Amino acid sequence: MRDGKHILVLNGPNLNMLGLREPEIYGHETLDDIRALCESAAARLGFTLDFRQSNHEGELVTWIQQARGQVDGLILNAAAYTHTSVAIHDALRLIDVPIIEVHLSDPRKREAFRHFSYVEPLAAAVICGQGARGYVIALERLSGILSTGRAMPVPD
Ligand code: DQA
Repeated sequence: MRDGKHILVLNGPNLNMLGLREPEIYGHETLDDIRALCESAAARLGFTLDFRQSNHEGELVTWIQQARGQVDGLILNAAAYTHTSVAIHDALRLIDVPIIEVHLSDPRKREAFRHFSYVEPLAAAVICGQGARGYVIALERLSGILSTGRAMPVPD
């Protein structure tokens, strides 16, 4: 039985354009469709959800800072900032709850500049290449981690 865990789902730049944006890569679902998928999975798993998107690196950093002590888990699709943002990496080091990194596509199978992730060293799991369903898998993964209290990886 889970007891009202609160999960933050953060989405980075250009994910507000899902549906229109390269559907052959990212699928046809809009971000609102993904929000609805997450809300229904969260209800099933006994989570409350805060689902947000920003095109601004600093806003994502602020939201991660504010999550400190307020959430039980974080699901993050940092989009392009995954591959560039030391600031997001540093903010993630401030929070001590499980982080699941999600990507709709599989960046490791795309251009070389997408192969490195600043999020990955801090993530308990990385879900990629599963499209919108990846967010549901991430919630399920969090549910497993939070109910078993499995130890988190410690960054170098
Ligand atoms: C993405 C992959 C990133 O490389 C890209 O910059 C995105 C979306 C994904 O969900 O597949 O914006 O994070």
